[in-house]
Amino acid sequence: MSFCFFVFLFYFHSVFAATLCGISAEIKFTIAVGRLFTYEVMRENFQSDFDSYSQKLYILHNDPMIFKCNQQGYPDLPEWLRFIQRRPSENGFLYGTPTTPGKTFIEIYAINKNSYDTARDLLVIKAVPEKMLPYQAEFFIELREVEKVLPSSVQSEIKQDLQKLWDNEALEIVNITNALDRGGRVPLPLAGHYEGVYVKVGSKKYFSRCLQRVMTPQYQRQCAAGDKVKVPGECHFCKIPSNCITWCKTKLFDRTKMEPAPPAPTMGSGILEDEGYFDPPESPPSRDYFPDYIVTVIVPLIIAVLLCLLLAYIMYGRREGVYHGFVLVGVLKSPGWGQPSMCLQPRKI
Ligand SMILES: *[C@@H]1O[C@H](CO)[C@@H](O)[C@H](O)[C@H]1NC(C)=O
Repeated sequence: MSFCFFVFLFYFHSVFAATLCGISAEIKFTIAVGRLFTYEVMRENFQSDFDSYSQKLYILHNDPMIFKCNQQGYPDLPEWLRFIQRRPSENGFLYGTPTTPGKTFIEIYAINKNSYDTARDLLVIKAVPEKMLPYQAEFFIELREVEKVLPSSVQSEIKQDLQKLWDNEALEIVNITNALDRGGRVPLPLAGHYEGVYVKVGSKKYFSRCLQRVMTPQYQRQCAAGDKVKVPGECHFCKIPSNCITWCKTKLFDRTKMEPAPPAPTMGSGILEDEGYFDPPESPPSRDYFPDYIVTVIVPLIIAVLLCLLLAYIMYGRREGVYHGFVLVGVLKSPGWGQPSMCLQPRKI
C-alpha cells in the first residue's frame, strides 16, 4: 500500500516536472484594446530548444518548422487573433486587434519537420482598456502580402507614408488584415500578383486636406467610373512602390459622428411565453377533386385511346396499300441441311 503510494507520488512528481519543463518560456505582453498587436514567432528561438534536446549545440541548424497556435484550453485562437506562416522555412506571425480588456493565454507549438520534435511556448497577452481613436482611416495596399507587412520595420515604413498623407505624427495602426479575409480573390501564382492588405490607422487629430478629398463628390464620381484613379500629385507620399495605396479604396471613419451602439438585448429566462391552448380543427374543409381528375386521368386517357385508334387504322386499314400489287406466298419446302424450311417470296401478280 505504501509502496503504491510512493510509486504514485514519484509518477506524479515526474509528470509535474515534465510539464514544467515543457514550457520552455512564458512571454508576457501588455497591449492596449483597439490597437494592433503583432508577434513574430521566431524559428531561431525554437531551434535552440530542438538543438538542446539532441545536444547538437555546436552546429547551427535551420530545420523547417511548422507552428500550431491556440488559446490555452481551446482548440483555436480567440476571435480577434490570427496566425500566418506561409512556409516551414519562414517565421510565423500572430496579429490582431483586441476588442475587450482581459488576459489571454496563447500556446504555440513548434513541430520540427526533420526530427518531428515538438516544443512549446506560452504567450500571456494582457489587454488593457484604452480610449478609442476618434478618427480612423483604412487604406488598401495592393502589392503586398500580409506577412510581408507585419514585420515592425515595414509597419513603420507604411506608417511614415501615412503620417505624411494625414499630415500628423500621432498616428497609430489599428488593424492590419489580409484582403483574402475580407472577400478578396486568391491571386494568380505569378510574379506581380499579390493578395493585398488593408491597413487601418487612427488618430485624435482630424483628417488632413488630402484625406478630406475622399469625402468629396468628385472623388466618388472618379472612383465610380474606374478603379485606376491615381493619388493626387500633392498627396502622393509613398517612397517604396510596394507600399503605395490604392486611392479609390480609401475609407474614412469619423467615430465622433457615429451613433452610439444600440443597447444590448435584455436576457430573458430562456423559456418561451405561454401562448394558450391550441385547438386543432375537427375536420379539414372538403375539396373538389373533379377538375384535377379530368386533367390528370380523363384527358390523357382520351388522347391514349385516339392514338390507339390511329395506330390500329394504320396497321390494319392501310396495310394493303403499302404492299399494293404484291402478295406474299408461303412456299413449304422439304426440310434439309442448310435450307430454310419456309420461304416468303414476293411475286408480281
Ligand atoms: C480588424 O479587421 C478584421 C477584418 O476585417 C475585423 O474582423 C476586426 O473586427 C477588425 N478589428 C477591429 C478592432 O477593428
